[in-house]
Amino acid sequence: ARTAVVIPAAGRGVRLGPGAPKALRTLNGTPMLIHAVRAMAASRAVSLVIVVAPPDGTAEVKSLLDVHALPERTDFVVVPGGDTRQESVRLGLDALPPDYDVVLVHDAARPLVPVDTVDAVIEAVRDGAPAVVPALPLADTVKEVEPADRPGDPEPVLATPERARLRAVQTPQGFDRATLLRAHDTVTGDITDDAGMVERMGERVVVVPGHEEAFKVTRPLDLVLAEAVLARRRL
Ligand code: C5P
Repeated sequence: ARTAVVIPAAGRGVRLGPGAPKALRTLNGTPMLIHAVRAMAASRAVSLVIVVAPPDGTAEVKSLLDVHALPERTDFVVVPGGDTRQESVRLGLDALPPDYDVVLVHDAARPLVPVDTVDAVIEAVRDGAPAVVPALPLADTVKEVEPADRPGDPEPVLATPERARLRAVQTPQGFDRATLLRAHDTVTGDITDDAGMVERMGERVVVVPGHEEAFKVTRPLDLVLAEAVLARRRL
């Protein structure tokens, strides 16, 4: 059972503020994407990493992979991404060779996920789950609202789901190859994660424990947190 990882890294990262595409911003001097690639290649089970680069940044991503030390046992491929995350993942899957039967999808924006989380996801797929997502319980209570027409206007609350039953999902999400390819072939619409597409097909999706350090770097404060986590690791 060979395992490949698709890393969508083609987003602009608008919420981080102006600057380079998010995956190319540095954390303690190293591009976020390189941290993410290393986090995947840290798993001995992973033998191929497909990076989906910003369309105008493919050459830059290739040279970054060349200059940074990465494990010899892993192959790396770079393909240009699309307008949405879903499209970028699809373009990554188009580059997947036939002999991989476990496929992970991991956001470049989650550069610090520990290898134990990666391995737990792979193991759950190998044990027979068609789709696996790492996830954590929520600290905040969550409310469903009727979104306001104008930003900043008060929004009526529709419901308060029971917090104990909710999970915040992370990546890498892991899939049996055929299941993920079928999801990308048949499911359309605005879905923000790959497991959501598998759910839409009526397939079983299971959750395994995620990790605090697998948080998504989205807003400027997340950069501060990510650099602090890296500094602590070097101690
Ligand atoms: O925007 P968001 O943080 O949800 O993006 C999640 C991941 O999807 C990021 O790693 C981003 O680079 C990637 N992405 C992509 N292609 C897009 C949009 C986002 O590869 N068009």
